[in-house]
Amino acid sequence: MSFVITTPLYYVNDKPHLGSIYTTLICDSIARFKRLCGEKVIFITGVDEHGLKIQRTAIDKGVDPRRHCDEISNVFIENWKNWDISHDKFIRTSSNKHESIVNDFYKRVKKSGDIYMGIQKGWYCVGCEEFKDNPENSPNFKCPIHQKNLEWKNEENLFFRLSKYQAQIENLINNPLFIEPKERRNEIIKFVSKGLKDFSISRTNVTWGISVPDISKHTFYVWFDALLGYVSALGLDLDDASLDQLMDKGWPADIHIIGKDILRFHAVYWPAMLLSAGMNVPKKVLGHGFLTREGQKMGKSLGNVLDPNILLTKYGKEAVRWFLLKDISLGNDGDFQNKRFVEIINNDLANTIGNLLNRTSSMSRKWFNNKVPQNHELVNDFKLESISKKVVENYINYFNYYKIDLAANEILNFAINTNLYLNEKQPWVLIKEEKNIPLVCNVIYNVLESTRIIGLLLLPLLPDLSSKINIQLGSLYNDKLTWKEELKWGKLPNNSELPTPSPIINKLDYE
Ligand code: MSP
Repeated sequence: MSFVITTPLYYVNDKPHLGSIYTTLICDSIARFKRLCGEKVIFITGVDEHGLKIQRTAIDKGVDPRRHCDEISNVFIENWKNWDISHDKFIRTSSNKHESIVNDFYKRVKKSGDIYMGIQKGWYCVGCEEFKDNPENSPNFKCPIHQKNLEWKNEENLFFRLSKYQAQIENLINNPLFIEPKERRNEIIKFVSKGLKDFSISRTNVTWGISVPDISKHTFYVWFDALLGYVSALGLDLDDASLDQLMDKGWPADIHIIGKDILRFHAVYWPAMLLSAGMNVPKKVLGHGFLTREGQKMGKSLGNVLDPNILLTKYGKEAVRWFLLKDISLGNDGDFQNKRFVEIINNDLANTIGNLLNRTSSMSRKWFNNKVPQNHELVNDFKLESISKKVVENYINYFNYYKIDLAANEILNFAINTNLYLNEKQPWVLIKEEKNIPLVCNVIYNVLESTRIIGLLLLPLLPDLSSKINIQLGSLYNDKLTWKEELKWGKLPNNSELPTPSPIINKLDYE
């Protein structure tokens, strides 16, 4: 059994922005955590390449949509590499494999009697690729998310009988584990309680899409096509995969991680489509909040995005990863402010964790011949050991419930408490008297051991920084032990060599 986790498939109207990096980092840290816990993981990400929005972007650029998609998809792939994203599958919805899965799926849904031809009239937001229910509520008929004019559409479309699945969807969303967090679930419950309406799944005015097999001039609606990317990704390593085969390759997904704006598609439309095709529904949909700048959603269409590559070059990926994963409470919106960002990194990573490691390993080298001291069982001091046990337990629990920011804060609090312990014990005073040496050995051992565990706990979140800590402690990972075994207290070998300390992270300047 594999644990299947997905990011949304990103529109290729532009290169990734910090919002796209945010979702992907959340998935990356969960995928890494699960692997460390010994699970087989399939981490799916990719791009959503069809539809009116992409067609228009290519036209505006004066290039063929395929060329445009090739170019931007490569930028995504390159970016994921730069951010250390550990995905297993990268799906492009313009691929032939995906097209054949969409066709297979369509046949199943049609066979269930859930497709019919109708007329679609309404106000459409090309940015959202969605008809808006109450356009009169949008000021000047502009999309509140994209601030762009809504467009009137009146055309013949194929429809999917969503209304038929009202009871099944109600049942599904009544399960509190299906949609998280709670506030998001309540929004969906409210939406579904108004009664589900059938929705159109084809377009006649979009050429850049997958053609509906039996109806000329119609292409599939981009969302009908894109959601299936999660399934076709599972068959990327097969020459020619059918939908049936992919059921044994890991479907259903364990968790879709998405932004709150696309929750309806994932928690209502998608499960209904799957039920119609006789397939299992995903086990969980987690809707995170938006990254905002001065309160407004950061988005390509709004032009207020932060270029992740500038942050990457200027501050390094570990700093940005830490800020996004630790400082934004998963589920809520989070405002990105440069000043706060710099303060958090300097405080948490440089002053608290980095400094703890640096000063302890310096003391240890100085007093114990460049080595980790021998700990003395006769000295009764279990304070850090018991804090560590609790921290590890809480951290694993938080991660298991996808509360990554809380898991990250456990690490930070552990480092703060370890610094406090050191200040309380004052080994630099104790060492002055010979009789205190066993005590000093223990204090230093305890602090180094806590730092080793802090490094290990950082592994899913900040893989690079974690390995730097490990190197500073003398590259102590033991290949024979699992990560969870390594997290147990007392694995730091007595008398092992400590390399010359060097800063694991540089302090940032605020300009
Ligand atoms: N193509 C669709 C998803 C199809 S999934 C089968 C799409 N793409 S998107 O590129 O517009 O958005 C992808 C994800 O990025 C969404 O989950 C969206 O919520 C997220 N974000 C876009 N802007 C964001 C922020 N400012 N902050 C956080 N996440 C944001 O929708």
